Amino acid sequence: MKIVIAGATGDLSRRMLLPALYNLDADGLLAEDVRILGLSRQMLDRETFADMARETVEGRGHAFRREIWERFSARLDYLTADLTRPEGGAALASEVGESEAIFYLAVSPSLFDGICDTLNAVGLSHAPNRVVLEKPIGRDAVSSAQINAAVARAFSEDRTYRIDHYLGKETVQNLIALRFANTLFEPLWSSQSIDHVQITVSETEAVGDRWPYYDDYGALRDMLQNHMLQLLCLVAMEPPASLDPDSVRNEKVKTLRSLRPMRRADIGDLTVRGQYRDYAKECGRPTNTETYVALCAHIDNWRWAGVPFFLRTGKQLAEKRTQIVIQFKPVPHSIFTGAASSDLVANKLVIELQPKEDISILLMNKTPGLDGGGFRLSPLPLSLSLANAFGGDRRRIAYERLILDVIHNNSTLFVRRDEVEASWAWIDGIRAAWEEAGLAPRPYESGSWGPSSAYAMIAQQGRSWNE
Ligand code: BG6
Repeated sequence: MKIVIAGATGDLSRRMLLPALYNLDADGLLAEDVRILGLSRQMLDRETFADMARETVEGRGHAFRREIWERFSARLDYLTADLTRPEGGAALASEVGESEAIFYLAVSPSLFDGICDTLNAVGLSHAPNRVVLEKPIGRDAVSSAQINAAVARAFSEDRTYRIDHYLGKETVQNLIALRFANTLFEPLWSSQSIDHVQITVSETEAVGDRWPYYDDYGALRDMLQNHMLQLLCLVAMEPPASLDPDSVRNEKVKTLRSLRPMRRADIGDLTVRGQYRDYAKECGRPTNTETYVALCAHIDNWRWAGVPFFLRTGKQLAEKRTQIVIQFKPVPHSIFTGAASSDLVANKLVIELQPKEDISILLMNKTPGLDGGGFRLSPLPLSLSLANAFGGDRRRIAYERLILDVIHNNSTLFVRRDEVEASWAWIDGIRAAWEEAGLAPRPYESGSWGPSSAYAMIAQQGRSWNE
C-alpha cells in the first residue's frame, strides 16, 4: 500500500502526519508493505525529505528510537510534482503503479478539485483507492458543495475521508462511551434534567504567520463550523443503532439540521464577535475578521427544546482549554433552609478534553460538622481522571487513530458530505446575519476570556460561563 501525502513539506505533514505515521510504525501498526510517498512542488530528493521527516519525528514522535527510525525511513519516498497538471499526475501514476493507494491532500482546499480531476484522469481514483481531505472543505455552503461535487466525480463517498481531527481525540470518542456505554446518563440527557450545555475551545496562541489563511476564514469558519459543531453533535445526537459509519453520521446530520437558524433580529443578542488587540497589526492591515466567537444555539427537537447550547472559541485567550459542561437543573424543591439553602448548587458534568483529559460530576455533599444547625452543603467533584486510570498509555496524536481508520476503511470518525453541507448551511446563516446587521468584532485584550459582551450575552440568558 502507498500512502501519498500531497503537501508533504507543509506544516500539517510535518507537525502531525509524519509523526503520527512514525508512531503507528513504532507500535507495530503499519503493515510491512506500507510505503509513504511525500509529494510536493518543492524540488527535493528522497534524502532531504527523509532528513526533514527525521527532524520533525524527533520532535513529536514518541520515544525516538534508532531502529524504528530506520524501519520507518526505509518506507519514505519523495516525488516533486504538481498534481494540478497532467504531467504531475502521470509522474504519480508511474510511482504508484498497481499498488493500493491512499491520497492524503494536506494542501489548500482550493486545490482539492483540480487534484481529484488529475487523479481521475490518470486512472488513480479507482476502488479501493481513497482520498483524505483536510478541513476546511470550502468556505461556505456553495464552495463546499462545489468541492464535494468535484471530489465525487473521482472518488465515491465511501472512499472519501473528510478529516476533522477533533474526532480522532481520545476524549472526544470517550463522549460516545460515556453516553452509550452507561445507563446512568441517558435518562437524564434531555431538557427534562439539563438546563444548558457549554462548549469552550479556547487557545492562548495568536494567529501569527497563519494569518493569510485565517484572515479569510475567521473563528466561525475555522473552528465553529467543524470542530465545535462536531462536539455539539456528539453531545446532542440521538443514540445511533450501532457504531457503523452511517448509523452515527445519520444521527449527527439530523442534529445539524435541527439547529435553529439564526435570525437577523437575534444576532445581536445571541452571538458575539471579537478580535484580539494586536491581530490587525499581525496582518499588517485593518481587518474585520473575528478571532473570537461566542453564541447561543438552540436545537429544535423533542429532546433539546428550550435548552441553550453556549459555544465559544477564540485565539489569544487566558488558557488553552477544551471543555464541555453539561449543566443540570437545580433540585425541583429544596428541603434545606437557612445557610444550607444558599449553599445548594445544581449538578454539572464537566468533560475536559484539553489540556488534561478528565471527566467530573459535581455533586452536593453535606459538609462535616455542626455549622448552620448541623447542615451545611458543599459541592464536590466525583472525578474520573483518565490520566490516572490509564496513566501508562501515552497520549496519542489524533491523526494516528484517523490514519489507521483510513487504512482499515472505517469511516465512522470522518465527516460525511451531507454533514459538511448541513453545518455550512447553519454557519452561512450566521455570517449573512452578521453582514446584514453590520456586526463588527469587539476588541479584547490578549490573555483575557474574550470581549465583555460575551459575559453580557450569557447573562442575558440567565446563565454564566464556567471558568
Ligand atoms: C485547527 C484550526 O483546525 O485546529 C486552528 O485551524 C486551531 O486554528 C486548531 O488552532 C486547534 O486544534 P487543537 O487540536 O490544538 O485543539
